[in-house]
Amino acid sequence: MPVCGVTADLTTISHEAVIVAIGNGRVRRRLFLEVQARGERLAIAQHPTAVLAEGVQVAAGTVIAANVVVNTGSVIGQNVILNTACTVDHHNRIEDHAHVAPGAHLGGDVQVGEGALIGIGAVVLPQRRVGNWATVGGGAVVVKDVGAGETAVGCPARVLK
Ligand SMILES: CC(C)(COP(=O)(O)OP(=O)(O)OC[C@H]1O[C@@H](n2cnc3c(N)ncnc32)[C@H](O)[C@@H]1OP(=O)(O)O)[C@@H](O)C(=O)NCCC(=O)NCCS
Repeated sequence: MPVCGVTADLTTISHEAVIVAIGNGRVRRRLFLEVQARGERLAIAQHPTAVLAEGVQVAAGTVIAANVVVNTGSVIGQNVILNTACTVDHHNRIEDHAHVAPGAHLGGDVQVGEGALIGIGAVVLPQRRVGNWATVGGGAVVVKDVGAGETAVGCPARVLK
């Protein structure tokens, strides 16, 4: 794809809406807030193979990749990434700027805080909470809540000191 320009060039590039396609959560948040403050329309980018239960709420700026499944009663915030083939089961709450990496699986009634990263292939058991800007390592199995800003790895997941 041709590169049309940098973020500042948005004023001169013809477009209908914007998606911030950056993996790093803090950078994605900063650019999201920047373009939102400029009055840009933030789109939802959803791959046609993704399956979302009826009534699932998805906020602006969120990317839903191929083969994602989101089950009933879940609420997905702004500027979230639901990456390839992750599953988000019933009544989850995924806060703004969070990232559920490829192949991660969240049980029912899980809460993922603002900016948190659920690493590739991780599992979060039902009813667990992952705090704001926390990181769950790739392949981890979260059996206890993970606090805000903490990094937890392994099976069962333990907080990295
Ligand atoms: C958890 C994570 C953030 C830690 O990164 P880090 O702070 O740079 O930590 P380090 O690589 O220095 O590792 C620290 C220790 O944790 C261990 N560790 C790191 N990641 C681990 C993981 N996922 N599972 C188990 N142990 C892990 C390391 O082996 C090391 O152990 P040691 O001290 O006994 O040698 C990172 O390894 C990770 O899993 N990131 C997820 C990335 C991802 O899924 N991105 C989405 C891509 S789309």
